[in-house]
Amino acid sequence: MTVQSVGTAPWNGDLFRTRFFDALSLLLPSGEAFVIDAVTDAIQAGDWSGASAQSLRDEALRFVREETSHQRAHRRYNERLAQSGVPVAALEGRVASAVQELASLPLCTRLALAEAFEHLTALLSAQVLKGAAWLQGDGREARLWRWHCQEEIGHRHVAGDVGRALGVGYGQRAACLVLAALYLGMDLSRLMAQLLWRDIRSGRLSGLGLLGQCARFALRTAPGFGRIALGSVASLWPRRSA
Ligand SMILES: [Fe+2]
Ligand SMILES: [Fe+2]
Repeated sequence: MTVQSVGTAPWNGDLFRTRFFDALSLLLPSGEAFVIDAVTDAIQAGDWSGASAQSLRDEALRFVREETSHQRAHRRYNERLAQSGVPVAALEGRVASAVQELASLPLCTRLALAEAFEHLTALLSAQVLKGAAWLQGDGREARLWRWHCQEEIGHRHVAGDVGRALGVGYGQRAACLVLAALYLGMDLSRLMAQLLWRDIRSGRLSGLGLLGQCARFALRTAPGFGRIALGSVASLWPRRSA
């Protein structure tokens, strides 16, 4: 079978934009395992008697099924990255050990973090689906990202609703949103730097080329990142947290 490797050619227009999504994909299997475990533990710990609680439990079960299928799809994506020479096991290993440290936190804190990750993911997904500044073409990887983004937007409320049902408070949600944003931003930047540094060393990208692609991506996506920041701040506003 012919493999159009994720890493052999930049599937997303240029290498910088491609590596942005490759780095996100490296974060996802462990990140999604974290939200799956938090929501699964909540399903087991909660009292789901009553019609509305039962309906929320059903949504939570659907959420877990969707995240599990995202996880499988991104494992296959990351296998293709590995086939192109990217040291996926080492890069994913660092993400997994960082996520492992969060696994021992109390359930309410894990749920607040899961809600924060889901909220940020849904805000990013809404921007990604807006157009070619983020995703280009209709190849396998672009289609995977569009499908994943649509499902993230569709179930964006579930982790938060489950958290509120188990008593997660406003202060904890606000603190975890800040922590999650820092965690995502730092890990994404670190992974992108590692991928792009490899590309420069292998001659696939020059330093000047990297600067040009980075500037173009930053200019075209700045309004989207602005909307993500505003959406995050808006969610911290107490009137919006009810
Ligand atoms: Fe997902
Ligand atoms: Fe999700």
